[in-house]
Amino acid sequence: MTAASSTPVDSSVDPLKGNLADFAAPRGPDLLARTAPFSQWIDARREAGLWPYVRSLEAVPSPETVAVDESGRRLQGTNFASQDYLGLGTHPAIHEAAVRALHDLGPHSAGSAILQGNTRLSRELETAIGDLLQMEHVLLFPTGWGAGYGSIVGLVRPYDYVVLDKLAHACLQQGAYAATRRVLRHEHLDMDEVRTHIEAVRRDDADAGILVVTEGLFSLDADVPELERLQETCHELGATLLVDVAHDLGALGPDGTGQLGVQAMLGKVDLVMGSFSKTFASNGGFLASSSRSVTDTVRAYGSAATFSNALSPMQAAIVRQALEIVRSGEGDELRVRLMHIAEAIREGFSTAGIECLGIPSAIVIVPIGDEAVARVATRNLVERDVLVNVFEFPAVAVGAARFRLQVMATHDEQQVREAAPVVVEAIQAARNALAT
Ligand SMILES: Cc1ncc(COP(=O)(O)O)c(C=O)c1O
Repeated sequence: MTAASSTPVDSSVDPLKGNLADFAAPRGPDLLARTAPFSQWIDARREAGLWPYVRSLEAVPSPETVAVDESGRRLQGTNFASQDYLGLGTHPAIHEAAVRALHDLGPHSAGSAILQGNTRLSRELETAIGDLLQMEHVLLFPTGWGAGYGSIVGLVRPYDYVVLDKLAHACLQQGAYAATRRVLRHEHLDMDEVRTHIEAVRRDDADAGILVVTEGLFSLDADVPELERLQETCHELGATLLVDVAHDLGALGPDGTGQLGVQAMLGKVDLVMGSFSKTFASNGGFLASSSRSVTDTVRAYGSAATFSNALSPMQAAIVRQALEIVRSGEGDELRVRLMHIAEAIREGFSTAGIECLGIPSAIVIVPIGDEAVARVATRNLVERDVLVNVFEFPAVAVGAARFRLQVMATHDEQQVREAAPVVVEAIQAARNALAT
């Protein structure tokens, strides 16, 4: 038996129906053959122009870009589908830092961080992140995903508990379930439920560790937790707090300190982890702690740091340089500009009839709901030269599809004001087409 990659498109498959949940648990002894129905469903969506994933860039990910889709079709237009919140990917100082690192230390770390994979640049980067976060000890990871996953599996054992926001990122969810079966998920941002879970654990078990996990700015809802209240609850009841600052560090807050700075919690949260891929123009991530024993432990037991090669010297140099910009007057100006763009586009949506979720930030969430509408609307937008990402299950719940536009400090106000009604009109046209 073979998988379905070269079979003709099955005309009985409706590309507007179904979602990834339908194919998540295929049955049968042949692991390869049972992938076929999923692939047939994707083929039907591809053929109808309703598979907006797996695009490749043909140009830098700036506010205007060019990409091709899987069928080789060229897409061009205003780009809200790349993550480069301060626009540092095109900054000359970043390019120079990368070239210098390539020249001085080569293209490749050639080892994991627990062996010989660190470089003087990664050590400098650890110090600079610690300085920004007011946390002395920092451990780098080759990806942000690894930082989330590895931080949890490095600290939590099967007899411990993880209390997790049900909308936390996949790396946190998967890290939690890999570490322990004792995962207690709570309703999004529900601080009372966090308390209830911790109290229930403590009633029966005084010895287990309890890790409470949240995000500084939620990536598909653009909302934020009350960090002080969460940290106080953890301290009061003997739990530990981990905050993932992937989307806010660098892009928001005084000095780029993200929600920690905005909420006056800098240096006051137990554990902070983040990713470099949104604001710092590179892959990679980190865990920060005030305790050396924590980073020692996660370096040795958090498999994504231990058994994976370290950040390359170029990535370390890029992030180090990006941090310098983030903390400078130029960084302040870029953040002001980013917020201005975020507010302008949200206002544009509001005027055109859709209220974006969450708070103003680089993440602009446009709720849609029905997956079929979202698919047709995305196709409409390609025809209107606007590139956005559309999210369906498993990134969000079934029936809660949405666009996530990611704005950059380098977007133009007029560009985003013009794009908002185009997006709204594309959604409305999709609703009308599906209603007839
Ligand atoms: C909240 C959050 N944490 C972690 C990650 C993983 O980071 P990266 O994509 O840089 O590996 C992401 C990005 O997808 C994210 O949104």
